[in-house]
Amino acid sequence: MKKMIAPSILSADFAKLGEEIQMVTTAGADFIHVDVMDGHFVPNLTIGMSVVKSINPISKIPLDVHLMIEKPEKYIREFITAGSDYLTLHVESTTQMEENLKLIHELGCKAGITLRPKTDINEIKKYLHLVDLVLVMTVEPGFGGQSFMHDQIEKIKYLKNWREQNNGNYLIEVDGGVDSVTSKLCWDAGADILVAGSAVFKGEKTIENYRKNIEGLK
Ligand code: DX5
Ligand code: ZN
Repeated sequence: MKKMIAPSILSADFAKLGEEIQMVTTAGADFIHVDVMDGHFVPNLTIGMSVVKSINPISKIPLDVHLMIEKPEKYIREFITAGSDYLTLHVESTTQMEENLKLIHELGCKAGITLRPKTDINEIKKYLHLVDLVLVMTVEPGFGGQSFMHDQIEKIKYLKNWREQNNGNYLIEVDGGVDSVTSKLCWDAGADILVAGSAVFKGEKTIENYRKNIEGLK
């Protein structure tokens, strides 16, 4: 399976987001990971639908939108109209997960599910046959630049086994504290896509540096 990288623009320079997206894409990124935070589900506030709408025409690779917001059902339609290619919801953020996943598919978008580190994997089991992507958080959602939580690797292994034994067809994505050391643990455990913010956008803002950072994660 191809090792795919999804740079998180949370660690990019928001003053030149379009340029940053074009540079990481040329540098070999497979997805653009967009971290949406509402200051309620997580103690941070970032970007919303209008930014997705602005970057959509610029991005030649899929927009992997991670909603860290309360009651995401209020915004599913708008985020998909804005250009999301994958829309990933937190199991802790809604009481309507099944309806939300079905709506995402009805609107022609790929559906993802994710969980906080302290949430047990059994909380998402009943949705695994409904999703195209499962995002394993290896940090507490809310900020970039945190340390990788090694005890979450078990969830990656579980999801790989479940997919094999139940004919699942989701991609396994890992998000938080991924760098050139922890990335190897994630690939070995069965990850398909790694999200990385600080590890990709660190250092010089050049295509060469971004390419080196991305290659260092594979
Ligand atoms: C955290 C976000 C992550 C974060 C990753 O809530 O969901 O995507 O931006 O940043 P790094 O790779 O720096 O941990
Ligand atoms: Zn994220």
